[in-house]
Amino acid sequence: MCGIVGYVGPRPSQDILLAGLARLEYRGYDSAGIAVIDESGELGMRKKAGKLKELRDSLATAALGDGTTGIGHTRWATHGGPTDVNAHPHLADDDRLAVIHNGIIENFAALRDELAAEGVTFRSETDTEVAAALLGREYRRTGDLQQAFRDVVNRLEGAFTLLAMHKDHPGLVVGARRNSPLVIGLGEGENFLGSDVAAFVEHTRKALAIGQDQIVAITPSEVTVTDFDGNPVEAAPFDVSWDAAAAEKGGWSSFMAKEVAEQPEAVGNTIRGRIKDGQVVIPELDGMDELFTGIRRVIITACGTASYAALVGKYAIEQWARVPVDVELAHEFRYRDPVIGDDTLVVSISQSGETMDTLMAVKYARERGARTLSICNTQGATIPRESDAVVYTHAGPEVAVASTKAFSAQITALLLLGLHMGRVRATLSDASAEVAELAALPEKIATVLSEEHDHVEQLAHWMADTRSVLFLGRHVGFPIALEGALKLKEISYIHAEGFAAGELKHGPIALIEPGQPVFVIVPSPRHSALIHSKVVSNIQEIRARGARVIVVAEEGDAAVLPYADEVIRIPLAGAMFEPVLAVVPLQIFAMALATAKGLDVDQPRNLAKSVTVE
Ligand code: M6R
Repeated sequence: MCGIVGYVGPRPSQDILLAGLARLEYRGYDSAGIAVIDESGELGMRKKAGKLKELRDSLATAALGDGTTGIGHTRWATHGGPTDVNAHPHLADDDRLAVIHNGIIENFAALRDELAAEGVTFRSETDTEVAAALLGREYRRTGDLQQAFRDVVNRLEGAFTLLAMHKDHPGLVVGARRNSPLVIGLGEGENFLGSDVAAFVEHTRKALAIGQDQIVAITPSEVTVTDFDGNPVEAAPFDVSWDAAAAEKGGWSSFMAKEVAEQPEAVGNTIRGRIKDGQVVIPELDGMDELFTGIRRVIITACGTASYAALVGKYAIEQWARVPVDVELAHEFRYRDPVIGDDTLVVSISQSGETMDTLMAVKYARERGARTLSICNTQGATIPRESDAVVYTHAGPEVAVASTKAFSAQITALLLLGLHMGRVRATLSDASAEVAELAALPEKIATVLSEEHDHVEQLAHWMADTRSVLFLGRHVGFPIALEGALKLKEISYIHAEGFAAGELKHGPIALIEPGQPVFVIVPSPRHSALIHSKVVSNIQEIRARGARVIVVAEEGDAAVLPYADEVIRIPLAGAMFEPVLAVVPLQIFAMALATAKGLDVDQPRNLAKSVTVE
């Protein structure tokens, strides 16, 4: 939610900011703006409702000049609609000071009343302008930007990343974070700030992570980090493991198309280095066996697509590590009174590592004494920093709002975790078959991509006018049904629902009328003839009521043929590994259908990739 970039250095900042915003646009794209200060202390600002292109077009007509200090913002609206006026930056102190913000300032109404009583007037409906006005007041009082900034952040409640600059101080950008992301990029004679490393990876891969409730000041030659009281703090350095090209479209029609195609690599990279002597050994968990041995239960918490990966993880961890696993939506978890303690391992899953609901669930779990482990795709992100342990997925940067390669990498990480736990807890004596399945996964995903892509795309074209699609699955096919429905909803705006196939007769079957398309994820009969036969019965039930049945089944499964209008084939795989294959055609289907409808698959309406508000 909202992308933030800051720059100080010798180069004109306008294009650097725009390029950074382009890489951060996945975080929000309903308006964008930049402000720059030049050597003589002139502050220029431009902001526009709409996607970044609107701002670019405006700057192409009249640039802001060659100011070498700047801040930029791409917005996902919270307070106030997506208009020019509500776009960031917000100015204060007689337009001498510019502020951008990501998050929600919860006490903004009280602060706004306080300032209004002093005669301050506001142009926008945003909480951000209140912070800007407060900073203006404190700067006039202290004459010291950094002191004033500290005073302001100490008065704010809620979640925020805030960047500010003042025309009295060319060459200085100050920033702060609480429960919202901010990282520092270290250049040669120049420095950067960004919501994530994508903001500056084109210029430097050396970065510093900033902790909670910390303030940073960057000049071209210096970076200082303090806590909210001004005490110096050491920021954690890290190297960005991917380069700018990884976050480019590189000839693909969309980031989503590229990311779907990158799944063999994403899964392969997530497995790499984690198999030793025929066993799964996750090096990051070295010396942490106690995390898994002294527990009586596991809770996996996540949101959206990551929560569906969690459901697959439940089956795998329970089977291999013989410990009860519950899956909790992060935004529900801490609003009841869950029974957790030091015998509970709370595993969080997040591609971004910044999802506020998930972060809050992790913090809550820690406060209650639980052990915490995160599965995350983003280095330097907040959730892993707040957890006792982290297992990174190595999917590379995921830019499209709809999660695809991160999902398959999350399932892979959960499979690795389940096998690691099974070894440590001595509940799985021989994992050689599972290890072989893992090693074969990338190749099998590549097979689905090459053999079914055109077939599924054609199907989507035929179905471009469809108004509703249902998805059914059983066992680990159930989360895939949920994920198939979510993909379709979020990028093609079609009504879609995923159900556990066994639940059908308890209500949803009433939705079936002649012609209703239903995707059914059919598990292999080799794993369980019983589960397979139940799903085939479910297919017969909907078929009898006129449904148009599209089956995703393993090669050679002939039992589905008499009842299916279409059959999409996936290679033979172990029961826990099938979901990574079965989801691929559903991703392709959603993407092709959205494309057939002329929609922007990378930036669907109303959404943002990283949801950093609750
Ligand atoms: O960054 P996270 O994995 O924590 O994000 C969680 C969800 O917001 C995310 O998976 C969302 O559901 C995707 N847009 C789905 O494609």
